[in-house]
Amino acid sequence: MNSIVKNELLKRLFEAEGEPVSGQEIADHYGLSRTAIWKYVKELEEEGYEIGTIRKKGYFLIKSPDRVNEANVQKYLTTKNYGKYIRYFETCSSTQIIAHEEAQNGALDGTVIISEEQTAGKGRMARPWSSVSGKGIWMSIIIRPTLTPQQAPQMTLVAAVAVTRAIQEMTGIDADIKWPNDILIGGKKITGILTELQSDPDQVKAIILGIGMNVNQDEEDFPDELHAIATSLKRVVGNPIDRAQLIAKILGFLELYTEMYEKHGFGPIKILWEGFSNTTGKRIRAVMLNETIVGTALGISNEGVLELKLDDGSIRGIYSADITI
Ligand code: BTN
Repeated sequence: MNSIVKNELLKRLFEAEGEPVSGQEIADHYGLSRTAIWKYVKELEEEGYEIGTIRKKGYFLIKSPDRVNEANVQKYLTTKNYGKYIRYFETCSSTQIIAHEEAQNGALDGTVIISEEQTAGKGRMARPWSSVSGKGIWMSIIIRPTLTPQQAPQMTLVAAVAVTRAIQEMTGIDADIKWPNDILIGGKKITGILTELQSDPDQVKAIILGIGMNVNQDEEDFPDELHAIATSLKRVVGNPIDRAQLIAKILGFLELYTEMYEKHGFGPIKILWEGFSNTTGKRIRAVMLNETIVGTALGISNEGVLELKLDDGSIRGIYSADITI
């Protein structure tokens, strides 16, 4: 009840766009006293919202904090399902871990776990993922598509296209996708995507899509070892980016392209992905678990597998590797 009323109050404050919202009306609707509503206003102020009061008229929103909480994200949402249910944390170990638990417990398609900070953020191949507080987008989305486990790896490419389109809309910048799912600007990493699976033998139960995006970090926010290889949108664009709005855009494109993939197969996604790829046509080194090979990237197959032409003329499909260009 507590958070339902508070969220409703916040929603009305946003929708009123600075006009007063009647505390009495909300109190009546939920059968509460005006003092109870006033307490929620105080709680919101403690969370960083600036709220004004006009006698006999109600409360109005002056400023909302730079937080990627449910209310701030949902005010920008245009989706049918994705982001309708958001669990928000000031800090957590890893949104990916929480999303796995939520999915096991039956969380709905499109449920999103977002945290301002992660203390044990994880990247691909169990590498640590730097997740400084209040500067990035650290989120995991639970997707329940009708796909076989064999089709699941393509969801990584679907997500990469969705994120790249969202960056493009938000900043006007064309980012590059490095196979399979690193998103780079000027050769430096902006976003990493981690796709994990809960599956039956012939049907995916849930895809846990972890997205880590460097948004408003300054140079000193990055650990030394990342200076040469990572950057943030703020550093590229020159001004801070509204993280909540960007999350809503990512969810919008993700819902659109996931639906497209389910209905029309990988063909349309492949075309979009190849348009953003910085890998196709390049000479690359693919470091795999047991071997390293060098060749020219021909593109991706209809299954999302990277096709590499080796120096002896043979063609190899790469399913999972670290790529250097
Ligand atoms: C990569 O190695 O490039 C993938 C990085 C994925 C990081 C994100 S941040 C949100 C989610 N929670 C995690 O612990 N990891 C993913």
